[in-house]
Amino acid sequence: MKKIVVFTGAGISAESGVQTFRDSNGLWRTHRFEEVASPNAWDSDPDLVLEFYNIRRKQLLEVEPNPAHLALVKLEEKYEVQIITQNVDDLHERAGSTNILHLHGEIRKARSTRNQSLIYDIDGWELKRGDKCELGSQLRPHVVWFGESVDQIGPAAEIVGTADIFLVIGTSLVVYPAAGLINYAPDNSAKYLVDPKASRLSGIPNLNIIMEKAGKGVPELVGQLMNQDTESNPS
Ligand code: APR
Repeated sequence: MKKIVVFTGAGISAESGVQTFRDSNGLWRTHRFEEVASPNAWDSDPDLVLEFYNIRRKQLLEVEPNPAHLALVKLEEKYEVQIITQNVDDLHERAGSTNILHLHGEIRKARSTRNQSLIYDIDGWELKRGDKCELGSQLRPHVVWFGESVDQIGPAAEIVGTADIFLVIGTSLVVYPAAGLINYAPDNSAKYLVDPKASRLSGIPNLNIIMEKAGKGVPELVGQLMNQDTESNPS
C-alpha cells in the first residue's frame, strides 16, 4: 500500500470558519503573537493568554470539518495516510482521520506548567486561572508558543521521508522548523501543493501546484489519487 503524507496548515481549516494567521483577516493582523502566544506573554499576563485561547476554543466548538478534511479521510481507503498538521484545531480528528501528528500542539488540551508530560483534555471551551494539574500547578494551553521547541519535528521529518506521495495544504510555509519539512520529501515522491496563493513556491522541483481553495482543490486531488493505479509510479 503506498504511503501518503499530508502536511497541513491553517488554510485547510479556513473554509470551516477558523481564522488563519497571515491572511488579510488573520489572527496576527489583530493580535501580536508576542502578547498572546509566547512564554513571556504567559509570565506577564496569563489571563490575556488564557482568554486568547478560550475565544479560539469556543469558536472551534461551533465549526465543523470541511470537504478538504473529509476528502483526506477517504484516502485511507486506498493508501496508508499520515497527517502532520501545524493546526491546533481538532478538525482532522473530527473528520475521521486516524493518523495525525500535531506539530504545534492541540488547543482542546491543557498541560501542567510543572511537568509538561501531564496533558489533560479541556472539557468545554474554558481554561481558567485556578485550573490546576495533579501536582497543583496552573494549567496552560497544550500549544507550542513562539520561542518554544517543536518536540515533534524529528518524528515528523522521518515520516515525511517515507512518503510516496506528499501533499502540502494551506500553509504559508514561513514558520520554522515546520516549514522545513518539505525538504524531507523523497526526490522520487509525487509532491502536490493546494493553496490559492501557492505560486510563490514554484521553486520546489516537481511540485504539482493546485491554486485552489482546499475545499475544492483537495477533493479534486483525492479523486485523482483514488483513481490512480497505485501499482504504477504516481505521476
Ligand atoms: N484553502 C487553502 N489554503 C488557504 C485557504 C483556503 N481556503 N485560505 C488561506 N489559505 C492559505 C494561505 O494562502 C496561506 O498560504 O493558507 C495559508 C495560511 O498561512 P498562515 O496563516 O501563515 O498559516 P500557517 O501556515 O498554518 O501558519 C503556520 O504559524 O503562527 C504560527 O503556529 C502558528 O501553526 C501556525 C504557523
